[in-house]
Amino acid sequence: MTETFPAPEAMPIDLDVEAALDASREARAEALLEFARIPSVSALPEHAGDMRTAAEWVANRLRGLGATDVEVVDTELHPIVYGRIHEADGAPTAVVYCHYDVQPVDPVELWETAPWDPFLRDGRFVGRGVADDKGQLVMHLSALEAMRAAGRRPPVNLTFVFEGEEEYGSESLYRWIDANRDRLAADLAVISDTGFFEGNIPAITVGLRGIMYAQIDVELSPVDLHSGMYGGTVQNPANALATILAALKGPDGRVRIPGFYDDVEPLTQEDRDGLAALPFDDEAYREAIPVSALVGETGFTVLENKGSRPTLDVNGMWSGFQGEGAKTIIPAHAHAKVSTRLVAHQDPAKVFDALQRFVAEVAPPGVTVTTTYLHGGDPSHTHTDHPVTQAAARAIRAVYGVDPVYIREGGSIPVTAAFTSQLGLPVVLLGFAQPACNAHAPNEWLDLDNFERGTRVIVRLWDELAAIPGEGQPPT
Ligand code: BES
Ligand code: MN
Ligand code: MN
Repeated sequence: MTETFPAPEAMPIDLDVEAALDASREARAEALLEFARIPSVSALPEHAGDMRTAAEWVANRLRGLGATDVEVVDTELHPIVYGRIHEADGAPTAVVYCHYDVQPVDPVELWETAPWDPFLRDGRFVGRGVADDKGQLVMHLSALEAMRAAGRRPPVNLTFVFEGEEEYGSESLYRWIDANRDRLAADLAVISDTGFFEGNIPAITVGLRGIMYAQIDVELSPVDLHSGMYGGTVQNPANALATILAALKGPDGRVRIPGFYDDVEPLTQEDRDGLAALPFDDEAYREAIPVSALVGETGFTVLENKGSRPTLDVNGMWSGFQGEGAKTIIPAHAHAKVSTRLVAHQDPAKVFDALQRFVAEVAPPGVTVTTTYLHGGDPSHTHTDHPVTQAAARAIRAVYGVDPVYIREGGSIPVTAAFTSQLGLPVVLLGFAQPACNAHAPNEWLDLDNFERGTRVIVRLWDELAAIPGEGQPPT
């Protein structure tokens, strides 16, 4: 797939660093496999020990790089790994962010091999986290290891923040950022946790949706009831939950919660033209998933609905009898996990309030309904023409031989907006996973060629940032 790229620039990166990368090919691949063997699932309490192991693994690599102030910071949930390489006096400082936590691996039976036994075959790494986001974290470490091996100092100052709660809402990180502003003083942030555009088109993400995640619990009685003896006289919590969930969204794909769209910034004609100009084929997208039909908010294109309009989804629901055969009960309770994806300038807290009010309003009588906030993150937008975005674009062009496209993604990285709102940093979202990489799904994969090229893009990015006029020069 990647053979279609033109050759990179004659010398995309320093030749000594290139030689070091060449010499470390196998070791770098093995490092990713070793890292991906650690089952660092942030959502499951039984993996708390593995989370620490993964954090220590990252911290040790940072120490090996000669980073200073390396710390595995305890939080209420999972550790944050911090460290710095500040060796370029007068040059800009970049916060580098990736996450070392991963999503659960179920359904395990759909994996080609055991999910915690990752492998590299036919030009692809396969295993949980290889794309999201351990591979990208290893690319950052590898880029620096190669610079060290070549005797080069990073030409910009780097402050590392590697998180273990990204897949779980980043609540600990918000608090830690707030309390550690001085240790995070910087000029920009580089987040490597996104990907390319359709197929394998190099991209820089300039928009991410925010999120508000909630749980709805409907309670009837302490235990299930005989549906013949009680049916028709008491409220059924599963029916009640269905009523509530059905009220949340209309057939036009619009969220029915009053006020939900109040703060939504409408797409400008320029936004729409930009999206329309991207090489995106609705039919190919549909077939690749595959689904029988695409749906969405009426009046918007697939690409607009995918990354630039807010939406609401039920992520899970459970109640009553789920075994084979039949059991005649009225379930004691029913539950749903519901999340919204938000765009500028929606506020997760405000959206939660609106959801909670609406659920209470549409809930049928005879059951107790509670709506609980699980986590939230703001949407984020970065600017295509910002000097740091353009530095990243030059780095991609040098290594891939093509200009990146600028895309808006439907996914969320909660800390992105926090880096800007809490620390005032411009952010560049520079990621190397392909859209079809099975992130969060069985057989997650990362293309070896993107792992190799991406590592070189990162090396080049540091040089490009150091060379921005007024942002300092590389040390000699
Ligand atoms: N790396 C993803 C975010 C992402 C998805 C970026 C698609 C670009 C394209 C990240 O790890 C993720 O999955 N985030 C969660 C956040 C949530 C748990 C708060 C998401 O979007 O569901
Ligand atoms: Mn991720
Ligand atoms: Mn993820």
